[in-house]
Amino acid sequence: MKGEVYLVTRNEGKLREVKDILSPFSISVRSIYEVCDVGTVEEKGESYALNALLKARRGFEKTGKISLGEDSGLEVDYLEGAPGLYSARWGGENASPGDKISLLLELLQGVPQQKRTARFVCVVALVWERGEEIFRGVCEGYIAEEARGEAGFGYDPIFVFPPEGKTFAELGSEFKNRYSHRSRAFRQSAEFLLREVFH
Ligand code: IMP
Repeated sequence: MKGEVYLVTRNEGKLREVKDILSPFSISVRSIYEVCDVGTVEEKGESYALNALLKARRGFEKTGKISLGEDSGLEVDYLEGAPGLYSARWGGENASPGDKISLLLELLQGVPQQKRTARFVCVVALVWERGEEIFRGVCEGYIAEEARGEAGFGYDPIFVFPPEGKTFAELGSEFKNRYSHRSRAFRQSAEFLLREVFH
């Protein structure tokens, strides 16, 4: 291993993906909560970058470890970019992933495929002793007519990756980790880490 970083998240789905994305770079990833309860970082909702940065700063300030924060969301064009920054809380604090999917499908009922365009966005913040960096990844697609597939988490069963015409939940983790918004953002962070931090 070339080095170790700490992700400020309690989301198991995200942690699993980030471990898999960074392992070919020989960078190991642990949740910051394994070493310290850094509390819950309030998402201020102003931008993905600010949310990601607040998480990474909290991790670094409390532990002194190289900390990564990430914020992500799904932007649906027909809904003027919703749920976007509010993807995690959309439909109410207690809405399950299934509830969120049902709500989205309802709002898009009867909308033709060419108007169902959407994108997943992921912003990663890196905080370490020499500064702060931001990396951004986007994956374009559209919203399916119904949920399909079992893999992944969140909105994966209704997000279609156009080159394949299948949802991320149908395509599975290996495929998703090659093309997703998260993969695009975290691979940039890995290149930076190898170039500037672990050498
Ligand atoms: P946050 O980044 O913790 O604010 O949450 C972002 C929310 O966006 C997640 O809880 C999911 O609902 C959704 N989301 C972000 N990335 C993905 C993904 O890769 N697949 C499915 N849903 C996602």
